[in-house]
Amino acid sequence: MSFKTLDDIGDVNGKAVLVREDLNVPMADGKVTDGTRLRATVATLTELADKGAKVLVLAHFGRPKGERSDANSLRQIVAALSGVVGRPVAFIDDCAGDAAEAAVAALPAGSIAVLENTRFHKGEEKNDPALVAAMAKLGAAYVNDAFSAAHRAHASTEGLAKALPAYAGRAMQAELEALEKALGKPEHPVAAVVGGAKVSTKLDVLKHLVSQVDHLIIGGGMANTFLAARGVNVGKSLCEHDLTGTAEEILDNADKAGCTVHLPYDVVVAKEFRANPPVRTINVHEVAEDEMILDVGPAAVEALGDALKTCRTLVWNGPMGAFETEPFDAATVALARTAAALTKEGSLTSVAGGGDTVAALNHAGVAGDFSYISTAGGAFLEWMEGKELPGVAALG
Ligand code: 3PG
Ligand code: MG
Repeated sequence: MSFKTLDDIGDVNGKAVLVREDLNVPMADGKVTDGTRLRATVATLTELADKGAKVLVLAHFGRPKGERSDANSLRQIVAALSGVVGRPVAFIDDCAGDAAEAAVAALPAGSIAVLENTRFHKGEEKNDPALVAAMAKLGAAYVNDAFSAAHRAHASTEGLAKALPAYAGRAMQAELEALEKALGKPEHPVAAVVGGAKVSTKLDVLKHLVSQVDHLIIGGGMANTFLAARGVNVGKSLCEHDLTGTAEEILDNADKAGCTVHLPYDVVVAKEFRANPPVRTINVHEVAEDEMILDVGPAAVEALGDALKTCRTLVWNGPMGAFETEPFDAATVALARTAAALTKEGSLTSVAGGGDTVAALNHAGVAGDFSYISTAGGAFLEWMEGKELPGVAALG
């Protein structure tokens, strides 16, 4: 798709520019516990401020459903954002209305201000034209830099893009370019790793991927549902037995599309799910009634690594095993390291994202070696489902 970027925004000196960022960061005891999303804002905010714009940051925090509350106030993010950006950041108590307009008018050119949580207005999630118009009054242009909120058709993510001249911010641009390389127009062969606990949360992802990729590697709890569909006894393993029919359909469609589906053929099992219990590494057909599959086995991981060596592109979502509990992190760590090494060698473009995927790759110590890591959760999954994200579509 084609969209305008900050290269196209022209002269913004002295003009107010509304920039949608994702400041929905995890917090504990009043402190931001993961600043990844804050760091992602820096390129766009400093570039616009350096051009003399009054940079007005729009964002949501939590799900306040149209009610004001201190707990959901973006005021508590301002100091952390200022630290990350390395400049003063002002705070304006509302994202629309007379008081906000007056505060914006008083801002000096080249400054950055965070406006209060857009979701304090009921019109935000409804994409209400009245709120869109009220926010649009504050600025001369709109920049969307929040891919991770682009699956929401809200006033600040979709409505504004139609009300003002709209541009992709630098983080949004990098994200869209990386995703285009991974699934839009990828170099084949393409492999996808899809893991995680439940098939039910990723059915649409799997259905879409079988027609897009050459190798589909299924791991995590969801692999058990596929194994069960193939008649394997999975014992006490996490398994959505009511979805084995759907799993069979996906396997059939993969077959027709020429997509090779990789399911584990050896597995690590235990009788209890806790750190370092007694385990067995066995053929997938040897799971006892009282055992559960908690990780992919080393022989399968080696074969998966060999498959990756033949590929040019990899998209990864979800862990291969119960990686938060040792020793069930082994397959995720080993496969992630293979992917990272191939990326470093230059033979593989690797893109990962969604939910706990970033945590899993950080745990493997290789997040920095992937070509691109998305910090988006739901938006990354919807993109993997082949859906058009409203916040992205509106930029086109
Ligand atoms: C996220 O944290 O995934 C995004 O900021 C979107 O938040 P939401 O799921 O509350 O819309
Ligand atoms: Mg979410």
